[in-house]
Amino acid sequence: MLFWRVKPLDDILATAERKALTRTLGAFQLTMLGIGAIIGTGIFVLTSEAATKAGPAMMISFLIAATVCALAALCYAEMASMIPVSGSAYTYSYGTMGELVAWVVGWALVLEYAIAASAVSVGWSGYMVRLVEEIFSITVPATLTNGPFDRTPGIINLPAMGIALVVMLLLIRGTRESARFNTVLVAIKVAALTLFVALALPAINAENFTPFAPNGFFARNVIDPISGNMVTVGVAAAAASIFFAYVGFDAVSTAAEETINPQRNIPIGLIGSLAICTLFYILVAAGAIGSVGAQPGGELAQSKEALAFVLREIGHGWAAKLVAIAAGLALPSVILMMIFGQTRIFFVMARDGLLPDFFARLHPKYGTPHVVTICTGLFVALFAALFPVGALADISNSGTLFAFALVAISVMVLRRTQPERKRSFRTPLVWVTAPVAAAGCVFLFFQLSGYTEMLFLGWAAIGLIFYFFYGYRKSHVGHPHLAPAE
Ligand code: ALA
Repeated sequence: MLFWRVKPLDDILATAERKALTRTLGAFQLTMLGIGAIIGTGIFVLTSEAATKAGPAMMISFLIAATVCALAALCYAEMASMIPVSGSAYTYSYGTMGELVAWVVGWALVLEYAIAASAVSVGWSGYMVRLVEEIFSITVPATLTNGPFDRTPGIINLPAMGIALVVMLLLIRGTRESARFNTVLVAIKVAALTLFVALALPAINAENFTPFAPNGFFARNVIDPISGNMVTVGVAAAAASIFFAYVGFDAVSTAAEETINPQRNIPIGLIGSLAICTLFYILVAAGAIGSVGAQPGGELAQSKEALAFVLREIGHGWAAKLVAIAAGLALPSVILMMIFGQTRIFFVMARDGLLPDFFARLHPKYGTPHVVTICTGLFVALFAALFPVGALADISNSGTLFAFALVAISVMVLRRTQPERKRSFRTPLVWVTAPVAAAGCVFLFFQLSGYTEMLFLGWAAIGLIFYFFYGYRKSHVGHPHLAPAE
């Protein structure tokens, strides 16, 4: 029952061939694309969230999250090099475990991409509000920069909502970042992190690392000393949250149809970008903890612009401004990648008949899928306006972890069901790597707060209802006569 309506892999590949996009991206651009999507709010903002949950032991959290991501990336790389078509985990599951699983994965990817875009918008807002205050001495009232569920509740996060809408408009106009523009933004982000590391590492004071893990390892609920709300803490809980900082490497796989020699270049792009980011994150975390301390409830834990805060604290106000400017310039490109990824996944789902046709409609003048872009943009802006960055990141992670676990399982299923199919990249030690990747994702999922897990289940339930009322009846795999003539 579960593995029904499996879309034959050859059909998936043939559809992609017919709608071929121009192949222009090589290994270098893909690695840059990956870094462009990965470095964002996670490291720039959620470092404080990790401090709240784990204290200095957040170094371990960064390592745990990186390990799970690296294992998942190795599985992703095999799938992406075998099925180099748009749609990422959704498409892989369709070809492996069938429509129902694919639908649930596609639905979970909405959390991964759209809610991640909201989270990054809120992260951007945190840096901008402070920067505007410092440079122009304009203080925007907290009621207009904090959503109602913030630690210090406001009414609406206007800057976050605004940036999401601006990015939506750019995408409707068809402003897809050129690879060169992306490379410039990556350089800005990497320069900002390098500056941070260069200034923070020499300021390390070993005492700041003790107590190392004040909240213990496994997730547990405590009362937040600042807001009085219940929060989930622990080193593993921080790993589940900081996982967000690594999300985005799979965006590389969504570019498979635009890649030269995807069989070789996609794995290089995926693993290369992840490795470079992990190195930076560990150094940044060490610098932040060692220089200003990272105890739960401390000042770093409360900051909305963690890296700029650290630099100000250690007496480099000028560098804090530069880092904030870099965040202001570069984070919108992460929002753009996320909304772009979301629209393309919706697009592929509509192409398969699981979403209404009008989603795939193209703008008469700009040639972009404007309907799906507007729907996605409004959804992203709404969540950005109302929710705090930590909650959004956790919700996004729940969807991502689910999708990654399914990709790891898909790799194993396909090794068994289609062993002869050409795999230009084979996951090393697949019978260890894939099960550990899947188990790691499941483990991190259960380290998220109970609230996040409930939201995920609620979202999945809505998705299933929608599927049985719509996708089940309209799917092109289930009802080939409904597919448009080629
Ligand atoms: N990894 C991306 C970020 O940290 C989503 O913003």
